[in-house]
Amino acid sequence: MKKRVLSGIRATGRLHLGNYLGAVKGMIELQNDPNYETLYMVADIHTITTPFEIEGLRKNRREVIIDYLAAGLDPEKSIIFQQSKVGEHAELSFYLSSVVSVARMQHLPTFKEKIKQYPKNVTMALLNYPILMAADILVYKAGAVPVGIDQEPHLEVAREIAKKMNQIYRTNFPEPARFATKGEYIPSLRGEGKMSKSIEGSYINLTDSLDDIRKKIRSIPTATEAGGEMNLGVKTLFVFADLFIPGKAEQFRKEFESGKLQFVVVKDAVAEAIFRELEPFQARRKEIEKDIKFVDSVIKEGAEKARAIASRTVEEVKEKMGLK
Ligand code: TYM
Repeated sequence: MKKRVLSGIRATGRLHLGNYLGAVKGMIELQNDPNYETLYMVADIHTITTPFEIEGLRKNRREVIIDYLAAGLDPEKSIIFQQSKVGEHAELSFYLSSVVSVARMQHLPTFKEKIKQYPKNVTMALLNYPILMAADILVYKAGAVPVGIDQEPHLEVAREIAKKMNQIYRTNFPEPARFATKGEYIPSLRGEGKMSKSIEGSYINLTDSLDDIRKKIRSIPTATEAGGEMNLGVKTLFVFADLFIPGKAEQFRKEFESGKLQFVVVKDAVAEAIFRELEPFQARRKEIEKDIKFVDSVIKEGAEKARAIASRTVEEVKEKMGLK
């Protein structure tokens, strides 16, 4: 039997380089491996757990689907869908919440971060975020989840829920594991923290021009002189060098150690290599954007295929919990 894979990205805007390297690359790798059956969604319900705009949500969830298709997700190989079109996610989420304590959710680092960021919006939806994510995965009995390292605490919750459900109700949920890529943690261009849509100046968009990418990479706060301990900005630059110009990174490291390195040379080489990798994506995106019918049909058919699997799990859980 093929192993199932599920992943998703919230509908907060177009994808950035961190999403692409930490999640989408892994999603594509598993899609193209015949040992896996892959389901990839835009997590539009998760988007309402923090402040959002109604029209923005509608627009952004379509943008994520278009980004997926342009990056190489293929509706012939993967089920590509919108979370909100499969009501079973929210339904299962409520059943699963009966085996999770409030304290466990309040102590998650991801929850604590979000309440710092949005102190006036600490809602039940936000507290339930990890349970809905567990439902996304378990409703397909997925065993592998391609996501960045920041999502590990949520996967831990999904494993705990699977174990508890299996113990108490004799379900057969697998304990999902993260599928990691080389870019599982992409640092912010500001030299501190991770690349994130919510931090201006921290990210590169997949649709950025060579000029924009060059400007942004040049803005990484490296040192005035090479040599000595690497500060955070220099380390950040070398993360990109290792990922995008692996053949040259070693040489640049040596030049850094001997104090001869000119940062702008590395920066421009990295920027150029990032742009070269994104160019085919950008060309495909322009084509797909125009093909409204194709995008609509992917969204419609994806929901039907996903629902067929999800509804079986929900029926089984209801039966086992005495709800049928
Ligand atoms: P989200 O929307 O925050 O991020 C989407 C994906 O991009 C990865 N990512 C990064 N990876 C490496 N470096 C970075 N700087 C970086 N920034 C973001 C994230 O790890 C993630 O894989 N909770 C999820 C969405 C979700 C989901 C799911 C994922 C909902 N249900 C079920 C998997 C399975 C989230 O907030 O992703």
